[in-house]
Formats: sequence, structure tokens, C-alpha cells
Amino acid sequence: MMSKPKVLVTRRWPQAVEAQMAANFDVDLNSADKPMTEADFRQAMTRYDAILPTVTDKLPAAVFDASPRTKILANYGVGFAHIDTQAAKDRGIAVTNTPDVLSECTADIAMTLLLMVARRAGEGERELREGRWTGWRPTHLIGTKVSGATLGIIGFGRIGQAMAQRAHFGFGMKIIVQNRSPVPTDVLARYNATQVASIEDLLPDCDFVSLHCPGGTANRHLINARRLDLMKPSAFLINTARGEVIDEHALAQSLWFGTIAGAGLDVFEREPSVPDALLNADNLVLLPHLGSATRETREAMGFRVLENLAAFFDGRTPRDRVA
Ligand code: DGY
Repeated sequence: MMSKPKVLVTRRWPQAVEAQMAANFDVDLNSADKPMTEADFRQAMTRYDAILPTVTDKLPAAVFDASPRTKILANYGVGFAHIDTQAAKDRGIAVTNTPDVLSECTADIAMTLLLMVARRAGEGERELREGRWTGWRPTHLIGTKVSGATLGIIGFGRIGQAMAQRAHFGFGMKIIVQNRSPVPTDVLARYNATQVASIEDLLPDCDFVSLHCPGGTANRHLINARRLDLMKPSAFLINTARGEVIDEHALAQSLWFGTIAGAGLDVFEREPSVPDALLNADNLVLLPHLGSATRETREAMGFRVLENLAAFFDGRTPRDRVA
């Protein structure tokens, strides 16, 4: 009988998926759930047929230098900017991700942040838990109305569209979209959305701006001081994409000087570290990268990795191959 491919899972996964993984492959699980170092990865590349990394694993070109045994990096997550895909490709290593299955839950978290920051839910909860609430009054913690407001969506892929679905049908929001490529007219029509040519065209017209573009060097600091200045002083910025898309220093300045009204962030440039200037901003809602964190979605992501691995080791092209 042919031996099973040797597979490394780099973090703890939902139990049901780990069990299936162990049944299908000769698998090493990371039961301590401790993030691996670059040196660990260099070594792993010589020992495993497949490595299953995630967003906390940095895989720069240097990791691929040791003549690798690894033939596939089956990423657990949709974003893969933490992997140097060109270097992997150059060495004939396939890379896959897990799209689709997390779109709804990630859009739910973007909507959660949007509602929380607009309605000052974080401030209210802190006040109440700290015993500072003195009771109802007409001028207490006045927020911003969400229903009927204008939402700008930067990046109109699957998650951006799931956000539009919620905002348009749930809250009657007007949708403006900026995307690298033209969005098909039937997709725009579904949400009664308008596509604009540039981020500069989008920002001044929006009450809320939600980021749904990829991370990585190409989009590093896409939202910088100059672009923050284009937003209305009454507008809010939401980021569930990747931390590096926003210049955090510039955002902190905008929040402190009130050049925008507030922000909601689920992702940060140097996770898990968050700058004090952000931690101390009251008009900011912060979540610890929870976009896909539901039992249903985290299991679906794992099973999607299993599907990609099965195809690869059967000699078929995995459906989610990105390099
Ligand atoms: C994703 O799927 O990209 C999530 O952010 C976790 O990696």
C-alpha cells in the first residue's frame, strides 16, 4: 500500500477537521497551538509533503531555500499575503486558500463593527460595566443613523458583495463600489450599486467606508493620511481585510483630531500588537481578528483545505489553487 502523504498543521484547528485530517493523512498536529518560527518552517519544508499554514505564519522566499520536500501549502484562510507565492511558484510548490466559506461571517463582523461604532456600543458598554451610567437622558451617547446612509466598499469580491447584501437589503444603504476591475453590471444591479473609478472618487461621498481588498505589499497603506483627509468628518472607516491596508499612525491622528468620526478594526498591521494611540481612542471599536470565527465557518475552512489536499494528491488541480 502507498504511504499516506506527510502533512503538517501549523495551528490548532476545530476538532472535527483535525480528526478527519488524521484519518486521511500521516499528520502532525500542533496541539500546543504555538506559532512556528521561520527556522521551524525551513526545517518543516524538508520533512512534509504538505504544510497547512494560516495568517500567523510568515512564509517569505527564504523559507523555500532549503531544497523542499513540500509540494503544497494549503492555507487555512482566504488571505494569503503572508506567503511569498511567487517564490513558491518558482520552486514548483502549489498554494491554495479557502474562499467562499467565510464570506458571510466576515461580512457579519464588518457589519457588527459598523453598527457598534456608529451607535457607540463600545463606549456604552464600557460606561455601564465601569459603573459610570447615570441613567437615560435625551443627549446621552448620541450616535449616527445607519439606515439609509451611504456605504463605500473598497474591493468588491465575495466578502465585499456579502457586505453590500447586508447593508442594502438589511439597512437600505446606498452602495458605492471601488474595485480593481470592472464589476459586471448584473452584480452591481443586484445591490443597486454604483462603481467609481478611484478611491479618491469614492471617499468624499461616503458616510461609511468598508475595506474588503486583499492585503500584501501592493495594498500597504492604501488608506493613508491623504486619503483619510478625503473622508467626511462625520464618516466612519471599517477594516476586516488586512491591517497593513491602513496606515495606523495616520488613522490614529484622524481619530484623535476628529477628521473622521470613528473606525472599526478587526485586523492590525502587527497582530497581536496594537498601538496605544489606537487602544486609547474612544471613537474606535477593536476586535481581535474575529472575521471568520464561528464554529460553522472555521470547520468549513478546514474541510475546504482537506478538499484541496485530496485533489492535489489525486493528481487533480485543487479548486482553490492560487499559485
Ligand atoms: C482569512 O481567511 O484570511 C482570515 O483573515 C484568517 O486568515
